[in-house]
Amino acid sequence: MRLKAIAAAVLVAGLGVTAAFAAEDGTHDARIALMKKIGGAAGALSAIAKGEKPYDADAVKAALTTIAETAKVFPDQFKPGTETGDKEASPKIWENMDDFKARALKLSTDASTEIAQLPSDAAAVGAALKTLGGNCGSCHERYRLKVD
Ligand code: HEC
Repeated sequence: MRLKAIAAAVLVAGLGVTAAFAAEDGTHDARIALMKKIGGAAGALSAIAKGEKPYDADAVKAALTTIAETAKVFPDQFKPGTETGDKEASPKIWENMDDFKARALKLSTDASTEIAQLPSDAAAVGAALKTLGGNCGSCHERYRLKVD
């Protein structure tokens, strides 16, 4: 019984270390964690735009805020010296850092603009999402490598 408890504690501690390591700045995991936040927020907007979820001004604002804030800090995960070990992040990011940062900032600014003129129904959310989505696609095309 006691041995089992110790084994469990060791296992939990081990997992803790792995999780902390995974979230370290400048790693693939830290980068995709931010992108998943953005992806989740875009998904929430999409559900409203498609009528799968009822229009909710607070939810729209929260999703746009997540996108605006997360996109702004995303380039911090691409500091010099973190070029290796991420098969999904193109080396072009570091070669064109100004352009990469500008694209992240553009997504953030577009989301902030939409917060200021909050989409007032599902159709408006769809239009807002279309504007945001243009940013996602053009950046992924240039800077995100396909890993499959
Ligand atoms: C400034 C460039 C840029 C913009 C803008 C951008 N992305 Fe990304 N995205 C990336 C890069 C680079 C990766 C790969 C990161 C890595 O693997 O290190 C990525 C990865 C992802 C992933 C994959 C996460 C995973 O689990 O592997 C999702 C989902 C994603 N982006 C969603 C979005 C959505 C939705 C938007 C727009 C609302 C968006 N991104 C806008 C650069 C961008």
